[in-house]
Amino acid sequence: MKKTDSTASGRLRPAGTAQEGPATPKKPMASGAPQDVLSELRPGQSVELLQELHILTRDGRLNQDSRRKLKQVYHLFNFIEPLLAELSAGAAGPTLADHGAGKSYLGFILYDLYFKALGKGHIYGVETRGELVEKSRLLAGKLGFGRMSFLNVSVAEATGADDLPAQIDVVTALHACDTATDDAIAFGLQKKARAMVLVPCCQAEMAACLRQGKTLQLARTPLAELWRHPLHTRELGSQVTNVLRCLYLEASGYQVTVTELVGWEHSMKNELIIARYTGQKKRSAAERLKAILTEFGLEGAMGRRFGIASQDQETGAGHATAESTTASIQA
Ligand SMILES: C[S@@+](CC[C@H](N)C(=O)[O-])C[C@H]1O[C@@H](n2cnc3c(N)ncnc32)[C@H](O)[C@@H]1O
Repeated sequence: MKKTDSTASGRLRPAGTAQEGPATPKKPMASGAPQDVLSELRPGQSVELLQELHILTRDGRLNQDSRRKLKQVYHLFNFIEPLLAELSAGAAGPTLADHGAGKSYLGFILYDLYFKALGKGHIYGVETRGELVEKSRLLAGKLGFGRMSFLNVSVAEATGADDLPAQIDVVTALHACDTATDDAIAFGLQKKARAMVLVPCCQAEMAACLRQGKTLQLARTPLAELWRHPLHTRELGSQVTNVLRCLYLEASGYQVTVTELVGWEHSMKNELIIARYTGQKKRSAAERLKAILTEFGLEGAMGRRFGIASQDQETGAGHATAESTTASIQA
């Protein structure tokens, strides 16, 4: 089977000869993938990229797992594309940092579907696993995706990384583990992001804090029944963390929408938080955030992460990252 690839316009070219530049008029797509699979792809989408990402098999087929992955990324793209479109007027084009990038599915597909034809803008992938970063660099080189960079640093380290510009337009973090989502929010605040698109992963930090104070809280309030059983501690920990993240973003000048990434049948970790910068810092959100932390007995343990630093924490007793202090909330 002769390998082919398609440009942003849907035009075919030999594999490995990806070109940058503005889209040309659409032509019917033909490629090494069966027609039923092609009908599930976006017009002009690179079959070669999807094969390299193992979303499509070598003979151009989709399996159950990759169909799910593709569905997630498309769903996310539907939310991200309008944000990028708003930011695309400038000469340099939009910048996007994807945190906990993994194999960079999201970054590569965003580049293929949007940045490639736009001819400007830059995507940065941030990932701690060196081998994934190296693979992504090689793949971007092979496909000619010249405006993609990959940084082998943690999300927290990325804020101060020299390879990143002072301002980043869009921050994404798709299933970045545990507190990496919080670090991505801190990064976004520091980089004055216009938008943040977050799909939190499992969360352990809050559950650990809830666990620690459980006996005391059970004696104090019947509400502590909500986290008495270990399974509930974990679930409530995730839920409360996401609520606090939303309040923190609202208090920092973002308008927040919470929706689903895909149907519950596909993933239990499908909460999609979209934050758009408006500059309106909601005082009521800061007050609610503080009140919730107090109600759960977490002001000391989690306050600093969410910008509520007590004197003790300022002198080093708090355990949250320094980045989270960059947007301290005066509740
Ligand atoms: C569950 S995977 C998700 C990968 C990708 N975003 C996706 O949805 O396909 C989480 C990735 O985040 C990376 N990661 C976890 N904590 C991180 C941190 N603090 N900084 C950077 N990367 C991190 C892991 O190495 C892993 O590749």
